[in-house]
Amino acid sequence: MAHLSIRANELYNLYENKFNMPPRGWDHGIETMKEYENYLESKIKNSKIKVLFVCLGNICRSPMAEFIFKDILDKKGLSNKFIVKSAATSNEEIGNDMHYGAKDKLTQKNIPFSKRKAIRITPEDYKNYNYIIVMEESNIRNIKRIVGEDLNNKISKLLDYSDNPRDIADPWYTGNFEVAYNDIVEGCNGFIKYLENKNVI
Ligand code: 4NP
Repeated sequence: MAHLSIRANELYNLYENKFNMPPRGWDHGIETMKEYENYLESKIKNSKIKVLFVCLGNICRSPMAEFIFKDILDKKGLSNKFIVKSAATSNEEIGNDMHYGAKDKLTQKNIPFSKRKAIRITPEDYKNYNYIIVMEESNIRNIKRIVGEDLNNKISKLLDYSDNPRDIADPWYTGNFEVAYNDIVEGCNGFIKYLENKNVI
């Protein structure tokens, strides 16, 4: 890539920090350095951070994470800076709404949620999202079978953002939605803190 101005270099780093990936380089049809600076500035200001939560079935943990994270953003006045969705690695529950245990738990904790249909992660999702955040180690292996290797280091585990990194047990098997809820809240708060520490929100 061509040698960047100090300002463009600074904006390049800001972009990379915010979106967890480098921007397009100054080579693709952008004529002047000033234009490139404006391009980066406008992207940083106007583009949203895209977060995809992923679990096995997309009916328990990842939709809970989606709604819990949206609620945290809402309370912090940050909703307009993010796009947040969730997806499955398996085909088992595609099209189905959240598990009643997940809905009951969110209702009990006063977390708003809407009717939804489980979807499966696609290779396009890997390109489009900045952060792909999973619930447990096996989710990573399963995602890679669908999207290929994690070449852009977009995949992380939700509780890697906590002080005590670990998997989030599947309440579909354990029946324990309280533990899942508490773990997800811990991870979502950790992720917010991580972004705050990077100065991107
Ligand atoms: P989730 O739980 O991954 O937290 O949505 C599961 C839901 C359904 C299945 C597995 C896990 N299933 O195999 O159908």
